[in-house]
Amino acid sequence: MKEHLQDKIFQIISEAADELGKECYVIGGYVRDIFLKRPSKDIDVVVVGSGIELAEKVAQKLGKKARLTVFKNFGTAQVKHKDLDVEFVGARKESYRQDSRKPVVEDGTLEDDLNRRDFTINALALCLNKDRFGELIDPFNGLEDLKNFVIRTPLNPDITFSDDPLRMMRGIRFSAQLGFFLETNTFDAIVRNKERIGIISKERIADELNKIMMSRKPSVGFILLEKTGLLELIFPEVLALKGAETKDGIGHKDNFYHTLAVLDGLSEHTENLWLRWAALLHDIGKPGTKRFDARLGWTFHNHNFIGEKMIPEIFRKMKLPTNEKMKYVQKMVTLHMRPIVLSEEEITDSAIRRLLFEAGDDIDDLMMLCEADITSKNPEKVKRFRANFQLVRRKLKEIEDKDRVRNFQPPISGKEIMETFHLPACSTVGEIKMRIKDAILDGIIPNEYEAAKTYMQQIAKEFKLSTVKEN
Ligand code: CTP
Repeated sequence: MKEHLQDKIFQIISEAADELGKECYVIGGYVRDIFLKRPSKDIDVVVVGSGIELAEKVAQKLGKKARLTVFKNFGTAQVKHKDLDVEFVGARKESYRQDSRKPVVEDGTLEDDLNRRDFTINALALCLNKDRFGELIDPFNGLEDLKNFVIRTPLNPDITFSDDPLRMMRGIRFSAQLGFFLETNTFDAIVRNKERIGIISKERIADELNKIMMSRKPSVGFILLEKTGLLELIFPEVLALKGAETKDGIGHKDNFYHTLAVLDGLSEHTENLWLRWAALLHDIGKPGTKRFDARLGWTFHNHNFIGEKMIPEIFRKMKLPTNEKMKYVQKMVTLHMRPIVLSEEEITDSAIRRLLFEAGDDIDDLMMLCEADITSKNPEKVKRFRANFQLVRRKLKEIEDKDRVRNFQPPISGKEIMETFHLPACSTVGEIKMRIKDAILDGIIPNEYEAAKTYMQQIAKEFKLSTVKEN
C-alpha cells in the first residue's frame, strides 16, 4: 500500500509520530477512496495519543508553509498544507445516550476507534509508523465489501444507527454515490431505527440529500429512502407522488417513478444541483390537484402553479436556501409544461417570444428539463415529441436572433410614462407598460424605443390621456 502514501506529508507525519513514540494511522474515507480510485484532498489521521500534540509537531516540521488550527474543546487539530487538509484526532472509544448524537468520549485503542465507525468500508486504516508503513488494518473485511460493492456496518447495525441516526442517510447516500448495495441486515436495521432520524438536524439531512441528488443516478438513493420508510419522515411531499390509481378502467402513471426517471435522465446531462431539484419537484403539485373527470379522465390542472407555491414551504422546512436558487427552482417548476404544450400546438412567434421573455437566461435549462420529462414507454410518442422539440429549439433560436427578447426590458420605463402624461404612480402606468410589453411580444411592434413611444401615444388616447405641454 506504500505506493498510495507517496505524498511527502505522509513521510512527515510518520517521522513526527515516531519521534513522539505513538501509533498513527490514515483512516476512514481517504483509505476507502484510495481503493475506489477517487482521489481526495481530505485526510483523516488517528493517533493513539493526542491528536493536537501530533498536529503541532507536524506543523512545526512543515514550517511556514503549513497552517495549524487547534480545536481544544474537541481534542482535534487541522493542518492545511498546499491543497491538502489533514485532520488529527486521538483514537477514541465512544458511548451514546438515547436522546442525542453527542457521544461520551474516552481515549481508546485503534480497535475501539474502528469499532465506532459507520461502515466496514470506512473502517480501514493504513499505518504510518516507519516500521509498519503502509500496513492495512481491516478488522471487518472492509476490503472484501469494497470489492463486492456492499455497505455494511462493522458492529450490530441497530447499535451503529441508534448511536448516530445520520448514518442511515449516509448508508443510502454511499449506495447512490458509489453504486453499492445495502447489505440485508443493514437495510433491515434502517427500517427498525428510522424514527431516530428525528434527532438529526435538518441541515445535516439536507447535506446528505444534496449528495444523493448529485450522484450519477439519484433514483437509487430515493428508492432506498422510500423502501426503508425514511422518505415518509424526511420528505412526505415526494412520497405523496407514489401510487397509480385506476377508475373506470382509466389509470394514471405513478408520478414517483416518473419523477425519478426525469431526475435520472436530466442528471445525465447536467451537474446543476438546482436544476436537479427542479426535476425532483416538477410534479410536486400533482397529488394536491388530482381529479377524476368522467369525460377527461385523470387531470392535474395547474399542478405546475400549485407546485411552485409549495416550494418555499418545503425549502424552509428542509433548511434549503430560500434565496435566488429557490426562485430558480420555482421558475423551472412553473414553466415546466410550456415547451411541451408549445410543441403540441402550432408554434407561433408570439408564444415563442413569451416563453423566451419568461424564461430569460434559463431557457436552455428549461428545455433540458422538459426533454427529460418525456418518459413515455411508447417509442412513437417519444419520437414525435423529440421531433417537435427540435422545432421549438429552432424557433427559439430564430426568434431570439431576430427579436432579442431573452433578457428583454420594456423600452419605455414607468417613469417615462408618468412624466409624459403627468401621472402619479398608479395602475394606469402599469397597464400602459404591460400593453407595450404585450405588443412587442405579440409582434405588433418591433422591440425598439421609437416604435414603443409611438404605440404609447396611440394607446394613451384610449385612456384619455394627453401629454404634458412643454414650456
Ligand atoms: N464517520 C462515522 N459516522 C458518521 C460520520 C463519519 O463513522 N456519521 C466516520 C467514517 O469512518 C468516515 C469518517 O468518519 O469515513 C470521516 O467522515 P466524513 O469525512 O464525514 O466522511 P467520508 O467517509 O470521508 O465521506 P464524505 O467525505 O463523502 O462524506
